[in-house]
This record gives sequence, structure tokens and C-alpha cells, in this order.
Amino acid sequence: MEKLNTTVGHPMPLTFDLGICLEDFWLQCALALLIGVAMGLVLWLVRMFILGPMYRKPNRIDGKVVIVTGCNTGIGKETVLELARRGAKIYMACRDPVRCEAARIEIMDRTQNQQLFNRSLDLGSLESVRNFVARFKAEETRLDILINNAGVMACPRTLTADGYEQQLGVNHLGHFLLTYLLLDRLKQAAPSRIVVVTSLAHLFGRINREDLMGERNYRSLLGAYTQSKLANVMFTRKLAMMLMGTGVTVNCCHPGLVRTDLYRHFVAPRWFLNTLSVLSLYFFKTPRAGAQTQLYLALDPALANCTGCLYADCVRCPLVPRARDVATTDWLWRESEKLVGLSPAKRHATNITMWSDA
Ligand SMILES: NC(=O)c1ccc[n+]([C@@H]2O[C@H](COP(=O)([O-])OP(=O)(O)OC[C@H]3O[C@@H](n4cnc5c(N)ncnc54)[C@H](OP(=O)(O)O)[C@@H]3O)[C@@H](O)[C@H]2O)c1
Repeated sequence: MEKLNTTVGHPMPLTFDLGICLEDFWLQCALALLIGVAMGLVLWLVRMFILGPMYRKPNRIDGKVVIVTGCNTGIGKETVLELARRGAKIYMACRDPVRCEAARIEIMDRTQNQQLFNRSLDLGSLESVRNFVARFKAEETRLDILINNAGVMACPRTLTADGYEQQLGVNHLGHFLLTYLLLDRLKQAAPSRIVVVTSLAHLFGRINREDLMGERNYRSLLGAYTQSKLANVMFTRKLAMMLMGTGVTVNCCHPGLVRTDLYRHFVAPRWFLNTLSVLSLYFFKTPRAGAQTQLYLALDPALANCTGCLYADCVRCPLVPRARDVATTDWLWRESEKLVGLSPAKRHATNITMWSDA
């Protein structure tokens, strides 16, 4: 009975308790809100860091002639979108004309730039590369920017039309021949630029002189892919040296981990792929963010004299000794010439000087 009096009979203590409870409640709400905002801020900052810097200089390139390989999707498509906004005349070099046309129409709608052209290029076929170049040369006397963007990663061992291992064939050899055959047009437009899209995966790469095509031992990712991306870096450095004084610069870049179709050949348990797909929404860059470093290399007037360098997140990166190995670079160059059917005589016809010729 006495107990009842203290609670029912005296309303004051009850009001007092409720006040404290309410105060507690709001305090907890405020605290939760504060923690939520702080966590949101941290997550946003980390996300901004992952996305990396954007190329924001407003310079236009009206009428400049550009080729971008593999641009019906992913990083290449975003690159074309931004270059089209800035007024470039762009040759979209893709292996699937239907997908290329869909991307071209979408980009024309979004930018109102009508100077976009759909051209067939299969980097896994040297004949296709030659046909592409012949058609381009019949149409244009100059080339201001060449972006070697197309790539395949971690595919099962298959061969190109010419019988070469697919990743080396497409990522390196196809682009090697393409660039080589376009050098005269690039020189004619000097100052002009070549941008090679490689990957930090090259750090794990090794040029396997004894088994370049992975015939004896094929590892799709940490073998063929990393080798092809190391070849991209070596190609960049050597070509930059060869083109010194011509007004044509060559640089390569790592776009970051980007959420694109590149991972289509990944073989792993379904649960792993599903988890990766979810995590990639936050931890991978968007294709637009992934395109920024190649846009920076193609566009920034401050890089007019920069050549032979590797960039990531618009910052110049040091090269590991393996990527600076001159003997292997030289060997790879000569081997690539042979594989794509270029003889030294043809090289001289293109006015290229080898280090060893000098
Ligand atoms: N995504 C990343 O995390 C990442 C990281 C480091 C480096 N990279 C490099 O970034 C570049 C662009 O890759 P992405 O992520 O944008 O991949 P993506 O979305 O798969 O795009 C690759 C492009 O290359 C084209 N391609 C493939 N084989 C070709 C061939 N034989 N001839 C002509 N085009 C061909 C593809 O055409 P189809 O659509 O017809 O197949 C596609 O348009 C690649 O060089 C890649 O190695 C990407």
C-alpha cells in the first residue's frame, strides 16, 4: 500500500522520472545522429578518395582528331563522352560495330557533338588493324590524340586471329601495330599525344622470354594479363625515347580499380563473385572516375613536354626496376616487330630510330 502511494499518490516523482527518460531519449537520438553523421562523413571521404581527382580544367579541343580504342563501354566510353563535350572529332575504334553504334548515338545525344565516327577495329587481328589504319588515313591527314584503351583481362587461354595469346595479342601487339602505323599522322599533327592504358598489375608482371605466349604454362591473371600490362609500360617508355624531338609524347596510366565489364572472365565461386559485385559498388571507381587520368594525359596543357611516364590518379608514379629494364624492353620491341610483321626496313620507312640505331 505504501509503495502504491509513492507512485500513484504522489505525481511529482513520476513527472520527474518521465522528464529524465525523455531527456535520455533525445540525448540518445542526438548521439546516434552525431555518430551517423560522423560515419557518413568518413564513408563519403573514403569514397571521394577512392574516386580520385577529376580533371576540371575547362580547355576545349575543338576539331582535334582523336582515336579511342575499345570505347563502346567502360572507361573508354566515358573518355569519348568527355572529349566529345570538349569539341573533339572522334574515331571510335571498336570490335563490335553494333555496340559501338549504340554508344556513339548515346554520346552524340548527350553532347550534341556530331563529329563521332563508328569504326571497326579488332585488335586481335593484325589484318583488322591494318584495315582500320588504311581507312583512317584515307579520311584524315592528322591525328592529334591516340588513346590505346581497349583491353581484355584474365580470359581463358585463347588465340588471336594470328595465333598469339589473346591478352598479349590484344593489349600489347594489336596496339603496338596500330600506334606504329599511325605515327606519321601523329607527327604531322605535332604537338600530339599517345596515351596508353596499362594497369598497376604490371608490378606483378614479367616478360617471359622463354614462353611469351604462355604455351607451356598459362596463368590468366598473374601471368598473361600482368605480362601484357608490363609490355604496355615498356612500349610507352621505349616509344617515348624514340619520338624525342618529334613533338609526339607518349605516357601511360593506371585508371584505378574500376567497376566495368573487364572482370567478365573472372572465374570464382558464385558467392565470391556476388560479394565482390556488391563491394565494388563502394570500393571500385565509377567508369567516369576511372577515365580521369587518361583524360588528364590527353588534355592537360601543362603536360605538353611530359613523355615516357606512368600516372595514376593524375599523379606521376615512379617505375619499378623491372619496368625500366632496357635489355628486356629492347628485346620485347624487336620481338613485337617480328610478331606483327614489321621489318627494320619498314621501320625506317616510318622514320623511327631505335635506341641501338642512334
Ligand atoms: N577496370 C579496371 O579496374 C581496370 C584496372 C586497370 C586497368 N584497366 C585497363 O583499362 C582499359 C579499359 O578497360 P575497362 O575497365 O573499361 O574494361 P571494359 O569495360 O571491358 O572495356 C574494354 C574495351 O576493350 C574492348 N576490346 C576488348 N577486346 C578487344 C579487341 N580484340 N579489339 C578491340 N577492342 C577490344 C572491349 O570491347 P567489347 O565490349 O566488344 O568486348 C571494350 O570496349 C583496359 O586496357 C584495362 O586493362 C582497367
